[in-house]
Amino acid sequence: MKAYRIADAGRDPLASEGPLASALWDAGAAGVAEQGTDLVGYFEFAPTVALPGGGTWEDVEDVDHVAAYHLALGAVEVGPLVVAPTHREVVLKAGQTVVWLDPGMAFGTGHHETTRLALEALAGLDLAGRRVLDVGAGSGLLAIAADRLGAADAWGLDLDPETVAVARANARANRSRARFEAGGFGDVAVDPPVDVVVANLYAELHAAFLPGYAAVTTPGADLLLTGILDRRDDLVRDALAAQSTFDVVAWRRDGDWWLVHVRRGG
Ligand SMILES: C[S@@+](CC[C@H](N)C(=O)[O-])C[C@H]1O[C@@H](n2cnc3c(N)ncnc32)[C@H](O)[C@@H]1O
Repeated sequence: MKAYRIADAGRDPLASEGPLASALWDAGAAGVAEQGTDLVGYFEFAPTVALPGGGTWEDVEDVDHVAAYHLALGAVEVGPLVVAPTHREVVLKAGQTVVWLDPGMAFGTGHHETTRLALEALAGLDLAGRRVLDVGAGSGLLAIAADRLGAADAWGLDLDPETVAVARANARANRSRARFEAGGFGDVAVDPPVDVVVANLYAELHAAFLPGYAAVTTPGADLLLTGILDRRDDLVRDALAAQSTFDVVAWRRDGDWWLVHVRRGG
């Protein structure tokens, strides 16, 4: 197997979700991974198209990198939640609840700062009786966690139909009522409106989606918006300052990433 390494591919939006990664997938990559700030595409067969990003080729051991990555994943504890891949054994402490999560090729294991920020923020809300929408559900972790935390309804949508299959499999593994639909935010009807939106996307999208979030939420709704890279947070701060539907409850930071919690006025 050969690896095509693009040095310093950048992290906003997450390199493994950005246009360079898409080009690697389109060229037939068997896997794409972030390694520090590098983006690496793994190829079993030489691509027939030119690759972008000025990368360099390396020979790598012929191993299943996705399987190796999954095997190495450990459990993550966030508030009362323990997120663990199904091959791990988990011993819960009093008050903890487990979410079994096999990410496949979808984003969302609980290890990334943005997912952890979103889980923490969800765990900090009283979700009883509330309808939760997870925008950009990826592996389904946030919607499944919302269901586990007592939401009346939890559903997720994602542009990428392959991640929706992963999210549904994870919901089944957890006997969760969380449900998932393929589609982009704004294209899929949200009716009735929801009480909580959790969205791990990126700053530009949140800034653009504020009117859309207003259109699909009830008065008093909480929005938990993350995937906001430090130095891009101004985009969201400015967009929030320019509207009057949502009030900022808190900005929280983990490493290079921000989550903003806003509440819709009553
Ligand atoms: C960073 S991942 C978040 C996954 C998971 N929710 C988490 O927090 O770990 C972002 C996901 O959003 C999806 N996405 C990007 N733009 C979207 C849009 N406009 N509407 C719906 N999903 C979108 C991507 O396909 C990707 O699966």
